[in-house]
Amino acid sequence: RTGRIEVVAGPMFAGKTEELVRRVHRAQIARREVVVVAHELDTRSGVGRVASHSGLEVASATAGEAGEIPGLVGAGTELLAVDEAQFFGAELVPVLVRLADAGLVVVVAGLSVTFDGRPFSPLPELMAVAESVTKLTAVCTVCGRDAAYHVRVPGAVPDEGDALVPVASHVGGAESYEARCRRHRSR
Ligand code: ADP
Ligand code: TMP
Ligand code: MG
Repeated sequence: RTGRIEVVAGPMFAGKTEELVRRVHRAQIARREVVVVAHELDTRSGVGRVASHSGLEVASATAGEAGEIPGLVGAGTELLAVDEAQFFGAELVPVLVRLADAGLVVVVAGLSVTFDGRPFSPLPELMAVAESVTKLTAVCTVCGRDAAYHVRVPGAVPDEGDALVPVASHVGGAESYEARCRRHRSR
């Protein structure tokens, strides 16, 4: 089998999870053995599933760090889907490269930028080593243009630590973050 890495990247509300779930469903229709992994920080819709802002859901295994992912993959697994890649940090890259080298199709989705507009590791690194990159945009909540960024809703997210090192208090949805275009990302 020939493995590959497919990246789905963008800001919040871009449809990354919807796209990941769509690819998982197609693989299941094709009777491929699929493993979906979420990060344990992602408690937005409860544990044990990957969920989109629009309510799409798929059951998932949960990992607290990248090193746990190979142990969740079985001998017959053909497609591995990992959502919220930004929660795993840079150590996710060699783990997914090894699994793709071993023949898995790896679909990985995550935030391309932090709330303050900085490249969000490991998405840039994953894009560099992937066979395919799908960069999605959301809709700017101010003007409706394509949004490649997002901002924190003032007061909704405690200013704890660095955005590049996610912690539980950074986790949130539409109550905490808004999608913004280049023009409206700074107020
Ligand atoms: P992501 O995982 O990239 O954050 P999801 O796949 O969970 O995105 O959700 C995408 C859905 O979010 C859209 O189909 C739409 O229903 C909803 N949505 C809410 N706000 C916005 C927005 N500002 N721009 C685009 N979609 C939005
Ligand atoms: P989403 O891409 O499915 O919308 O989810 C992104 C998650 O990442 C959400 O729980 C909020 C969190 N987050 C951070 O941890 N740091 C950030 O800088 C941003 C913008 C979001
Ligand atoms: Mg998502």
